[in-house]
Amino acid sequence: MNIREMQDEIMRLKKENDICILAHSYQSHDIVEVADFTGDSYALSKLAAEVPNKTVIMCGVRFMAETVKMLSPDKKVILSSPEAGCPMAEQMDRELIENVKKQFADYTVVAYINTTAELKTVCDVCVTSSSAVKIVGAIENKNILFIPDCNLASFVAKQLPEKNIKFLQGGCPVHAAITKAQAVSAKEKHPGALLLVHPECRPEVAELADYVGSTSGIMDFARKSDAKEFIIGTENSIAQHLQYECPEKKFYLLSKGFICENMKSTTLPMVLDCVKGQGGEEIEMSPEMIAQARKCIDKMIELGG
Ligand code: 13P
Ligand code: SF4
Repeated sequence: MNIREMQDEIMRLKKENDICILAHSYQSHDIVEVADFTGDSYALSKLAAEVPNKTVIMCGVRFMAETVKMLSPDKKVILSSPEAGCPMAEQMDRELIENVKKQFADYTVVAYINTTAELKTVCDVCVTSSSAVKIVGAIENKNILFIPDCNLASFVAKQLPEKNIKFLQGGCPVHAAITKAQAVSAKEKHPGALLLVHPECRPEVAELADYVGSTSGIMDFARKSDAKEFIIGTENSIAQHLQYECPEKKFYLLSKGFICENMKSTTLPMVLDCVKGQGGEEIEMSPEMIAQARKCIDKMIELGG
């Protein structure tokens, strides 16, 4: 089967089997084309509670599939690639955070949504990169313990100087690997281009950017901007998707190595297997875990609007 035939078969089977395919924007273009909805982490978590289908296939990473399961416990939720974890989500465990909380008893614990369900059970509110500033700003408590991404925490702290934000040293190995020297060199190579970066990048990279924002923030900025050239400082799929959408503009990669291997572990044949009911991994969570872990996601949706 060629790509087109596989895509046609996926479209046919998902309709026949009442399946909704959600794809994070870091998925490759052939997968985005067969998805019912594509978006960043926040958009996908909001959709998770609303889709009417019996089965949801999440083309993304494990914490995203867990979020769908928590918000729609009666649905069958399939993670397209069983090996698609997020290294950042697994950097801190429940025991560590319980111990840290003892030292910061009067702090509100804010968890980036890139955390395991187990870790979410000991946190107060979740945020995503597109909602973090709004949500932290809406929390009454001045004292915030932000986990696990220290780069996103620094970005939020800069926007909200009135807050006392403490953080631990965690983060995305893909975004945090980008150096200031790479950003300087990309700007020198493309002097007419605007640099757009994700807040998971190091602060010294973000400081050089013309715009810092989430996946959907970067995409919206590039679509609406009058500028014609952009250096994309996030996962390389975003440059590819934008190039399809805006053929009159030019999108350059900040680094050829800006690839999340976990996001990219889903392939079109794997999605085809999932719609046939043969592949992926069904997410199983106990009702107790769901009840405990989803509180901070519900709080995110309440404060994020
Ligand atoms: P957003 O989708 O919130 O931009 O996050 C990017 C990311 O790294 C997802 O894992
Ligand atoms: Fe996790 Fe980073 Fe990959 Fe996102 S890009 S899934 S944060 S490793």
